[in-house]
Amino acid sequence: MNIAILSRGEHLYSTKSLLDCGLKQHNMEVLDPSRCHVGTLNHQPVLYYGQEIVDDLDAVIPRIGASNTYFGTSLVRHFESMGVFTTVSAESILQSRNKWTCHQILSAHDIPVPDTFLGLTHDPRMILDHFGHAPVVIKLLQGTHGEGVILAESKSSARSIIETLNASKVRFLVQEYIKESQGVDIRVIVVDGCIVASMKRISKSDDFRSNLHRGGQPERYDLSPEEARIAISAAKALQLKVCGVDILPSDRGPLLLEINSTPGLEGIETTTGVDVSQKIISFIERNKTSS
Ligand SMILES: Nc1ncnc2c1ncn2[C@@H]1O[C@H](COP(=O)(O)OP(=O)(O)O)[C@@H](O)[C@H]1O
Ligand SMILES: [Mg+2]
Repeated sequence: MNIAILSRGEHLYSTKSLLDCGLKQHNMEVLDPSRCHVGTLNHQPVLYYGQEIVDDLDAVIPRIGASNTYFGTSLVRHFESMGVFTTVSAESILQSRNKWTCHQILSAHDIPVPDTFLGLTHDPRMILDHFGHAPVVIKLLQGTHGEGVILAESKSSARSIIETLNASKVRFLVQEYIKESQGVDIRVIVVDGCIVASMKRISKSDDFRSNLHRGGQPERYDLSPEEARIAISAAKALQLKVCGVDILPSDRGPLLLEINSTPGLEGIETTTGVDVSQKIISFIERNKTSS
């Protein structure tokens, strides 16, 4: 098969891991989205990589960065319209990238989530009264790697942050702080409806965010049946065949925090020893065999 990874660099761990794994059986290449040109000619989708037409791919693995969501998803949609198999659809990437949209979909599918309000309001007190007490967590809708995730320790600081973000026309949500999670969250990788790997991430003592990019420490972790159930339900709700699901432990059971369409592979592969890249390549192979 001819498989392309849509990624900005072969040097990135996840891209390299997928490339090395796929090369054992397939023709693999990395396409940098910034060098792709898309259009239609005579009602047919056409795609160029630099000067060369691209028309021989069987599958693509999108690794679209958060800063490139608009063009990246446009490119993925183009491959879809060309009949090229993609491990994640453009629509699913878009839905998961917006934290509020993602939250609405998870909640609509009866998946347990923290209490959350969209931040758009003329009166921050209306939102804050729902939580009763501080701290609350304020998150930019498009943030990633823990950037744009703020712990507002008091109601007054929450109010001024909400007012400032609204005045700057920045979109955000306000969420209950799950104190008992104690800086720990659980990352689950789901491929084709099955759990393939899971780990715990423990935040540094001075930060409530457990993202590895923020210095969180990964540890092996076996999921409880309920954690496994909600991770699979979340992947199904967002229609993501390859994803990273984040879960917060709480006194009322596991809560689904968010779902990532381009999960990093380095932390999970090195911590668990699971070859997640191989699971993704096998998923493509199964799909092409059955189509
Ligand atoms: N409501 C919350 N209560 C407690 N901790 C939280 C809450 N929301 C986020 N966190 C912590 O912050 C981290 C980053 O938040 P998240 O919503 O996953 O944003 P990002 O997309 O930037 O990773 C989480 O992994 C978790 O450790
Ligand atoms: Mg996260």
